[in-house]
Order: sequence, then structure tokens, then C-alpha cells
Amino acid sequence: MADNKERTFIMIKPDGVQRGLVGKIIQRFEEKGFKLVAMKMVWPTEELLKKHYADLAARPFFPGLVKYMSSGPVVPMVWEGLDSVKTGRKMLGETNPKDSAPGTIRGDFCIQVGRNIIHGSDSVESAKHEIGLWFPEDKKEGVIDWASWAEKWIYE
Ligand code: RTP
Ligand code: MG
Repeated sequence: MADNKERTFIMIKPDGVQRGLVGKIIQRFEEKGFKLVAMKMVWPTEELLKKHYADLAARPFFPGLVKYMSSGPVVPMVWEGLDSVKTGRKMLGETNPKDSAPGTIRGDFCIQVGRNIIHGSDSVESAKHEIGLWFPEDKKEGVIDWASWAEKWIYE
């Protein structure tokens, strides 16, 4: 049962929000069977984004990345389900949309690496870190804890 509770942090980036893709992206995760356990819309500060992408701080594209990510509201979310981290990354596609297969979110909805519309955690570890960063208020009580009766439609 604990495996079914794996959580991943997914965030629709400013271009995804501005282009009106929030509904379509949420729909993909819902239809897959993952449970939405936290979501909000925020205009993130550069300070928060620098923490979020801290591991990329030395990369040449970092200043542009922070500028892009702070250019408008984003929609951070937490999705829960079996292998949600790995499967979430598969649903997103590759970092560069040109390498992303059709059928993936980046493969279907965007063209350039600097405007790739969505973020997804790359490991369970980083998911935990990112959830704490973006939903600090949930540290105390956890994000929504769905009743176990709701699971029977997805897991045997
Ligand atoms: P994300 O963290 O946003 O889900 O993306 P990712 O794991 O697929 O890729 P990552 O290496 O973590 O890079 C984070 C974001 O930085 C931008 N980027 N730009 N111009 C470039 O060469 C370049 N490389 C990466 C992208 O927005 C990428 O998603
Ligand atoms: Mg990444």
C-alpha cells in the first residue's frame, strides 16, 4: 500500500499557464489514475526558484531559466500513485522537446528546451524536497490523504 502513495512534484511552468494548457495537463495525470493531492497557482519569487533549481546553479542557462520561471504564474501540484515519479517523467518526455516522443506532454505541446512548459521530479528524494519547498504548509499534516476506499478503482 505504501508504494501506491508515492508522490511526485509536477509544476506547469509560466508558458504552459499562459498558453492555456493547465486543463489538458491535469487531465493527462487524472486519466492515468494518479491522485491530485495538492495544487495551487503562484507567481514564484526568484529566491524560491533558485532553491528549486539549486543543482543547476553553475550551468550557463541558469540565469535565463530563473528569469523564464519567474516570468508569470506557475501551477505547482503533487500527484500520488504507484511509481508516480518515474511514470511522471515518462509522461513529460525528454528535457528537450525535440527529443520527446509524440504522446508525451513535451512531445505534443512544445518545441524548445527553454520553453518546455512543465517540470517533474527526477527521483523520490527530490520529490520530497520539492514538495517541502513549494507546499511548506503541508509539512505538518501532509497533503490530502485520500481515504483508502478510493484506491480500489485503480489498484487490485
Ligand atoms: P525540469 O527539472 O524542469 O523538470 O527539467 P528536466 O529535469 O527535464 O531538466 P533539467 O536538467 O533539470 O533542467 C531544468 C530546466 O532547465 C531548462 N534547461 N535549459 N538551454 C538549455 O540548454 C537548458 N537545459 C535545461 C529547461 O527548462 C529544463 O526543463
Ligand atoms: Mg530537473
